[in-house]
Amino acid sequence: MPFPNPNTFHPIKLRDGTAHRGTVFLKAAIDHPRIEVGDYTYMSSHQPLEEPGDIVQRLAPYLWDFAPEKLIIGKFCQIAHGVQFITSSANHRMDGLSTFPFLVFGGGWDDRASKPEPGANTRVGHDVWLGTGAMILPGVTIGDGAIVAAGAVVAKDVAPYSVVGGNPAKEIRRRLSLKDAERMQALAWWDWPIDHIVAHEVEICGTNLVALEASAPK
Ligand SMILES: CC(C)(COP(=O)(O)OP(=O)(O)OC[C@H]1O[C@@H](n2cnc3c(N)ncnc32)[C@H](O)[C@@H]1OP(=O)(O)O)[C@@H](O)C(=O)NCCC(=O)NCCS
Repeated sequence: MPFPNPNTFHPIKLRDGTAHRGTVFLKAAIDHPRIEVGDYTYMSSHQPLEEPGDIVQRLAPYLWDFAPEKLIIGKFCQIAHGVQFITSSANHRMDGLSTFPFLVFGGGWDDRASKPEPGANTRVGHDVWLGTGAMILPGVTIGDGAIVAAGAVVAKDVAPYSVVGGNPAKEIRRRLSLKDAERMQALAWWDWPIDHIVAHEVEICGTNLVALEASAPK
C-alpha cells in the first residue's frame, strides 16, 4: 500500500479498508492562520475527528485566529489523545494588581488596561512524540526527536532527543547523546523525499546512526 499523501484527512486505513476516523494528518485537517504544521504530523483521538474547528479547539483551545502568537509544529510529529497546547493568549496580564481579564467582557478588546503584552510562539520540532494528555504551556520550544511522557505538564523548553515527564516536566533520560542528537539534526531525515524515507524505514527506526547517515540521499 502506498504511503499516504500528507494532504490526506484520515491517513490510517484499518485492515477492513475503512479509515480510522480518530487520526488526522493535521496539515490536511486544519487551516488556521496562527498554526503552521509540517507534513505527516498526525493527531489522534479516542473520538472521531471530523470538523476542523473541533480539532483546533481540542489541540489549542486558546489560540484565537486573531491571537498574536503562533503554534509551529514540525514534520512527522505524533500527537496523542488529549494533548493540549495552552498558547500565550491564554495568559492573563500578571504585572498589575489584578489578573482579571476585563477586556473579554463587554466587547472592546483593544486599548484596555487588562490587555496583556503579546506572548511568545510555541514551537515543536520534527519527529516529536507527545504522549496522552500532555499539556504544553505558553511559549515553550520542544526540540527535534523529543518525547513528552503521558500526562506531562511542559513549562520549560525541552532539549532535542530528550524524554521529559511529570508536572512540571523534567528530563527522565536522554534518547541520544548531545553529539548524536546534533548528528540527527544535521541529517534531518524528515526533509528527505518521502519515497526515500519510506525505503529506509529500517535505518530510520533502527539504532545504527552510521547506517542512517549512509542512507542519506546522494
Ligand atoms: C515516557 C515513556 C515513553 C516511557 O519512557 P521510558 O524511557 O521507557 O521510561 P521508564 O518507563 O523506563 O521510566 C523511567 C522513569 O520515568 C518515569 N516515568 C515514566 N513515564 C512517566 C510519565 N508519564 N510521567 C512521569 N514520569 C514517568 C518512571 O516512573 C521512571 O522514573 P524513575 O526513574 O524515578 O523510576 C512512557 O512512560 C509514556 O509516557 N508513554 C506515552 C504513551 C502514550 O501516551 N501513548 C499514546 C499513543 S501514541
